[in-house]
Amino acid sequence: MKSPKRLVTAALPYANGPIHIGHLVGYMQADFWVRWNRMTDRDCIYICGDDTHGTPIMMKARELGITPEALIAKAKADHFKDFSDFGIKFDHYSSTHTEENRKLAEEFYIKMRDAGHTVVKPREQLWCNHDKMFLPDRFVKGICPKCGTPDQYGDNCDKCGATYDAADLKSPGCSICGSTPTLKGSETIAFKLSDFREFLREWVPGHAPEEVSNKLAEWIDGELLDWDISRDAPYFGFQIPGTTDKYFYVWLDAPIGYISSSEQWCNTPEGKKAGYSVSDYWLPEDKGGKPAEIYHFIGKDIIKFHLLFWPAMLKTAGRKLPTEVFVNGFLTVNGEKMSKSKGTFISARTYLDHLDPSYLRYYFASKLNAALQDLDLGLEDFVNRVNSDLVGKITNLGSRGAQMLGKRLGGSLATSFDADGDQLLKKKVQPLLPEIAKHYDHRDFAKVLTAVREIADETNKYFDEKAPWNLIKTDEEETRKVLTTTLNAFRLIAISLKPILPDYADKVASLLGEAPYKWSDTQTLLLGKKIGEYQHLATRIEPAKADAMVEATIKENEKVSQARAAAGSQPS
Ligand code: 2FM
Ligand code: ZN
Repeated sequence: MKSPKRLVTAALPYANGPIHIGHLVGYMQADFWVRWNRMTDRDCIYICGDDTHGTPIMMKARELGITPEALIAKAKADHFKDFSDFGIKFDHYSSTHTEENRKLAEEFYIKMRDAGHTVVKPREQLWCNHDKMFLPDRFVKGICPKCGTPDQYGDNCDKCGATYDAADLKSPGCSICGSTPTLKGSETIAFKLSDFREFLREWVPGHAPEEVSNKLAEWIDGELLDWDISRDAPYFGFQIPGTTDKYFYVWLDAPIGYISSSEQWCNTPEGKKAGYSVSDYWLPEDKGGKPAEIYHFIGKDIIKFHLLFWPAMLKTAGRKLPTEVFVNGFLTVNGEKMSKSKGTFISARTYLDHLDPSYLRYYFASKLNAALQDLDLGLEDFVNRVNSDLVGKITNLGSRGAQMLGKRLGGSLATSFDADGDQLLKKKVQPLLPEIAKHYDHRDFAKVLTAVREIADETNKYFDEKAPWNLIKTDEEETRKVLTTTLNAFRLIAISLKPILPDYADKVASLLGEAPYKWSDTQTLLLGKKIGEYQHLATRIEPAKADAMVEATIKENEKVSQARAAAGSQPS
């Protein structure tokens, strides 16, 4: 039986800021997995887009003196380019500000309302009479009601960790204009999450990592407060049907963006050729859908939205529920939270201005597994690991093997292996391939690379023992066999690296005169053919380039802070 199609999503990034290296962990991880699926002939699509609604985006556009539409169009183009330049290849990259998404958001809401899962309630919120708007928590600053620390946001205190209502802050101030907000009554539409307690209790454990599901169990057994899904005008978003001045809260229509982006893809020529409609993917089979698995990759900060609200929304709307939600931790740099002043809050573009994206793909993969843990980018470790492993251990095998074969032996591979080479391939290299496949299936990319390095270590040992640079003086044909063994091991490494380093694997395929690799190519060995001319694959990182990237980040942040200070500050 054919395996079901897979639809993979990565969290939709907000349109009010650039992609930074912290974001990239999740997108790369999903990209590795999607590429692995494809390489093993799974039908698998990768869907994403920008998350475009909400007050911060509206305010950012005001700050820049442009419309929110102009802001989100630019952000989308920038984000897409950043992702592409990092080799993160989506099948479709959309936006939540589309007609498809509006229609779906309305459909979800109407189903939620008509099933009696919403309630209209009075709500008092802080109102800025100067800016004529209700202030979201992040737009109010004041003194923490618990510990007295000044300059804290309206939702929680950075110093003591207390969470509270913005209205409880002492001496609150509007962070846009500085004036004192007042409490003003309004009405809010809320989604009654507690209606889904039993469903969530049952559903969550099989669909989230264990540690996440344990955490969620506490919430599910706790209060399960109603969730405010409306925001009052002015707000950049979709107006709620049946109201005149209320908009869907950004988190209502954000995950629906996964469906609307899939819908757009299904209507592209590639999507049509693939043969599934959006309902095939997103309706359960008993409601007309077709076999398909849905996987969400998210960061640990947004589990509530994806594992409480989202399944409850999908269930109400009669949609297919995700097969699994994969959760990754945060990125730290040099062991600490990314910091603007230390220059470690590095944007994707600044990284690309200084370093090759494949290095970061390699490094993140070397640290990523399926466990929910934070990942550290130690900048010195990054330089060392790329230089010693990717360049020193791995690439050197290919460059030494191919260059000697090309320059000294006419570029033709032998028609058989030497006896030791045969043993190396059979006993040390090939047995690791099923392990590598298993680690990819389980998203344990760190173990993939451990196995790859083991192959490289064994092959380097063999190469050094054979010393082909000496052997060639006395026995050209034996040397040809040694280089053939070496290049075969290197080829298997390149195939194994393909989901992580696709360009690298493609270059190796073209060096060896082969079509782009599939995993099934690991079943074959290469003998008796002529190879192409060696082209550069990877060079060492100059530590100075990593330093320059940090310096550039410090400078950019200083510029932004100065411009902000001149214009009056606003949260980003
Ligand atoms: O946390 C964030 O960055 C959100 N923009 C993620 C949205 S994911 C999905 F639900 F759209
Ligand atoms: Zn104000």
